[in-house]
Amino acid sequence: MSNNLSLDGCDLVNLALKYGTPLYVFSKGMIESRCREIKEQFLKRYEGSRAYYASKAFLTLAMCQIIEKEGLGLDVVSGGELHLALKAFFPAERIILHGNNKLRQEIETAVEKGVSRIVVDWEGEIDIIDAVSKTKGKRTPILLRVTPEIKALTHKYIQTGHRGSKFGIPLERIPFTVKKTMSLPNVELKGFHFHLGSQIDDYRTYLDAVDVVTKLMSDLRDRFGYIAEELDIGGGFGIGDGENARTKPISYFTDPAMERIKARCSTFDLPVPSVAIEPGRWITSEAGITLYTVGAIKEIPGSCTYVSVDGGMADNIRPALYGARYRAEVANKMGRDKDKIVTIAGRCCESGDILIENLPVPGDIESGDILAVFDTGAYNYSMASNYNMLPKPAVVFVDEGEDILVVERETYDDLLVKQRGIGSALRV
Ligand code: LLP
Repeated sequence: MSNNLSLDGCDLVNLALKYGTPLYVFSKGMIESRCREIKEQFLKRYEGSRAYYASKAFLTLAMCQIIEKEGLGLDVVSGGELHLALKAFFPAERIILHGNNKLRQEIETAVEKGVSRIVVDWEGEIDIIDAVSKTKGKRTPILLRVTPEIKALTHKYIQTGHRGSKFGIPLERIPFTVKKTMSLPNVELKGFHFHLGSQIDDYRTYLDAVDVVTKLMSDLRDRFGYIAEELDIGGGFGIGDGENARTKPISYFTDPAMERIKARCSTFDLPVPSVAIEPGRWITSEAGITLYTVGAIKEIPGSCTYVSVDGGMADNIRPALYGARYRAEVANKMGRDKDKIVTIAGRCCESGDILIENLPVPGDIESGDILAVFDTGAYNYSMASNYNMLPKPAVVFVDEGEDILVVERETYDDLLVKQRGIGSALRV
């Protein structure tokens, strides 16, 4: 029996040898089973409900194909994400467009292709959508993104629903915006949206926002007779961090939210809106593992032991940006005692490029070992950069013993494709 770590019947050490490292590996089955859980526990149980996968978490053509096949919708936040989705033949009528500063051209494409909803993030955007829709002879369904003034307990950089956030329309401006929207012929106001932030571990944060927004809905009905048909409660369903990373059932978040929405609507005598969610990390994070090869090992007496790997902040910016913590194993030395504590260092030219601190590993860890870092399926590949001219790693899906290459590793020449020398024919 091999002592190697495996995923979905694939030996990860063999995959590292076959494709090289760093390497992003995803369990296709786990992504699918998360989609199915959403279908069983949310979509089937709540009439009219919708679920859009937040593609910014991890987006490739192959990922789009899975989401399409599983019947979920897709949340895109830029022309680039929309372009990729359309290239993957993702149906426009299942796409929702976000963005706090959408370009006119992005709105034009979205309207022309007939996306399901555009989520309006500022007042002036409504005029653009109305004008573009008029030119294209369409009436575009929109949601207004409300800033509910709820501060989620998460890293400051990923809070979005607090007062002062750059996202959404301030609460006090909503009545004016609704009135204005109701007067425009080429947009159709379907309801409201909020997104409180990311890595939210406590479902009660959503309840606080539901309270604010349902009160708002009641006021709007009283003032203008406007009745919202839809409420999109965003994504942000947390999965914990480091050793404590555990994906909770989706119903941990959605059931109490649905209950509260129903209860509040009954209090205010409002019809219950159809509800949408936009999970990103919850679907992909745990399905992803990043493989690295160990290189330099530096023991600093009285300080720590650095184990350096052949990737780092270029393929996983999250520890440096948010202080995110990760779990890892030496994939070719499973089951051994972990009697050494090390610091996993990236290879970028930054002192802050430290992937994991205080990681217990087998005492005989050595150059050439394969390190597997867990829960890297969300916001790792999608936030990867070419810092230090590092080519982006390949992405491989594994599925019942089979491995499928879905993104090729970049080459050095790929990094130069768009470059031109000055005044000469210097080209790659
Ligand atoms: N809906 C909206 C409108 C969003 O802005 C986001 C994420 C989501 C849904 C999905 O959130 P999730 O379920 O994945 O937490 N780069 C950060 C996360 C930024 C999230 C941005 N918006 C990180 O690595 O933690």
